[in-house]
Amino acid sequence: MLVVEVGGEPVGQVHWFPAYYGPQSASKALRLGVALVPEARGRGYGSAAQRLLAEYLFSTTTVNRLEAGTDLENIAEQRALERAGFEREGVARQSQYRDGLYRDMVIFSRLRDDK
Ligand SMILES: CC(C)(COP(=O)(O)OP(=O)(O)OC[C@H]1O[C@@H](n2cnc3c(N)ncnc32)[C@H](O)[C@@H]1OP(=O)(O)O)[C@@H](O)C(=O)NCCC(=O)NCCS
Repeated sequence: MLVVEVGGEPVGQVHWFPAYYGPQSASKALRLGVALVPEARGRGYGSAAQRLLAEYLFSTTTVNRLEAGTDLENIAEQRALERAGFEREGVARQSQYRDGLYRDMVIFSRLRDDK
């Protein structure tokens, strides 16, 4: 994980972990997550942090695919991902179990060759 800073102040974190699509090492994608403190939301920092993280991961690893998933209802994160260069792929139905419910997740990706 990395800390998101604005003007030297910590305002949140980004993190990532592997997602495997096959046995070969080239089939490993990285899955991103982000959370900002409430006072820092809605100012473009979430978009900027995820764009910077994507650039960092493409320049320091060999992965071809970055991905992220968020609740259907989380419009802010969906917009932030789009602004960070991620493309919406679809909905992974009831893929995340949280607080006693299986939740639909919207899946986004950014590929090494994407602009
Ligand atoms: C999701 C999150 C990272 C987005 O970062 P952010 O800095 O707040 O978002 P931005 O300021 O970059 O805004 C991105 C877009 O979402 C929109 N947006 C922001 N808050 C919104 C809200 N509550 N409802 C709808 N749209 C919203 C912005 O207007 C902007 O849209 P635009 O491109 O059309 O102008 C941040 O809000 C957060 O940490 N939320 C709590 C944790 C979380 O949900 N993490 C993701 C879990 S998968």
